[in-house]
Amino acid sequence: MTRPKPAIGFHRQDNQLYVDGVALCDIADNFGTPCYVYSAAAITQAVQNLTAALTEPKPKIHYAVKANSNLAVLRLMQRLGVHVDLVSAGEYARACAAGFTPAQMVFSGIGKTDAELREAIANNIGQINAESAPEVKRLIALASEMGARPAVALRINPDSQAGGHAKLSTGSHQTKFGIPLDEAATLYKTMAESGTIQPAGLAVHIGSQIMEMDDFAEAWQKMRGFADALREAGYEVPKLDLGGGIGVNYNDGTTADLKTFAGAITQIFADSPYQLAIEPGRVLVAEAGCLLARVIHTKEGVDKRFIIIDAAMNDLIRPTLYEAYHRIEPVRESVDDADTLPPADIVGPICETGDYLGLARPMPALETGDVLAVRSAGAYSAVMRSNYNSRVMAAEVLVLDGAAHRISKPQTLDDLLGADIIPPALRDET
Ligand code: LLP
Repeated sequence: MTRPKPAIGFHRQDNQLYVDGVALCDIADNFGTPCYVYSAAAITQAVQNLTAALTEPKPKIHYAVKANSNLAVLRLMQRLGVHVDLVSAGEYARACAAGFTPAQMVFSGIGKTDAELREAIANNIGQINAESAPEVKRLIALASEMGARPAVALRINPDSQAGGHAKLSTGSHQTKFGIPLDEAATLYKTMAESGTIQPAGLAVHIGSQIMEMDDFAEAWQKMRGFADALREAGYEVPKLDLGGGIGVNYNDGTTADLKTFAGAITQIFADSPYQLAIEPGRVLVAEAGCLLARVIHTKEGVDKRFIIIDAAMNDLIRPTLYEAYHRIEPVRESVDDADTLPPADIVGPICETGDYLGLARPMPALETGDVLAVRSAGAYSAVMRSNYNSRVMAAEVLVLDGAAHRISKPQTLDDLLGADIIPPALRDET
């Protein structure tokens, strides 16, 4: 007898929320709350969906590690055959630990230190994306000192206004990112004539949480024109890195239109001589994760309800930092009385009014101990958490082939206190 295959990702059955066939209330019981839960099957499907949507010329997918850098998630990505985009020595170390080779890595970032650049050069990282004239100058100096020839692309700034939120927009001249086109031409020449750098091409990344695919097309069109001009001037421009930024609809968990995204690439780069890459983060992991929290108690306000849970802004800062909306649902659905009750603010225990996960949400009556799932928490959630209010960091769990595995240790108070050092002069014994 074959058992029916469980649904992929988060799904409801018999008034209960499951992930890949595992009941989330069991995960809350077994691993405690707050706790991040990811579905390996949903991540796999997101990678497959994007891969399947891409048409010729197919760009190589470089997963943006910053979205979710847990080693188990990175290992899964490695098994799925994607490459990576990194922005720090820490992400480089994680990518190495997960089994990626330096050749599979693109190193991005506005402020790479000498130590980071040296490490990247010494290990022959596939591509370094430089973001300014001073960085190119430093790269030339380091490369000649080390007797190496790193592959360096220039991240251009196409002066685009795209991005889901002012804090997530990176493509305009008002931001610190990339090199304006007029400056980039001279800089490309400097790289090509340096004798120490292999010009690897161009990169662009206009922002994150982009739903409007025309914004990508506009930036890529500028990039193509600029790349063609460089080639006509006799320079080698082997690769174009088209960046990340594909948005996710946090209201219903769908993604931006991948077909239109892929269609724009095909339209702009068909029959071009370039090897293409993209750097998606969010779209591959956001929907594959949730944050589980338990109700501590509920409090009746003057004209609203507060549901106070054991997760807080230190666990998930997106709602208060970007006014981001995350769906929140009880793991066990009781009688649906949400319509008759006033909306509720779902808040954490931290001493700030900005400490909320959701505002004015229709919610059924909840009791101490009930478990809530804060959805779309696979991207930019655990990676952005902190110890604010001396709260220990939540554990992470990955559901893989129908079994839940702890993939990060819950921090203990010993870990937290053990990280601080009281100087001898302040100790009692001195
Ligand atoms: N490439 C570069 C150079 C980037 O800076 C980023 C994201 C990506 C790729 C991946 O972008 P994605 O496909 O994930 O949109 N903390 C924010 C998001 C910041 C994104 C920063 N850069 C949030 O919680 O929404």
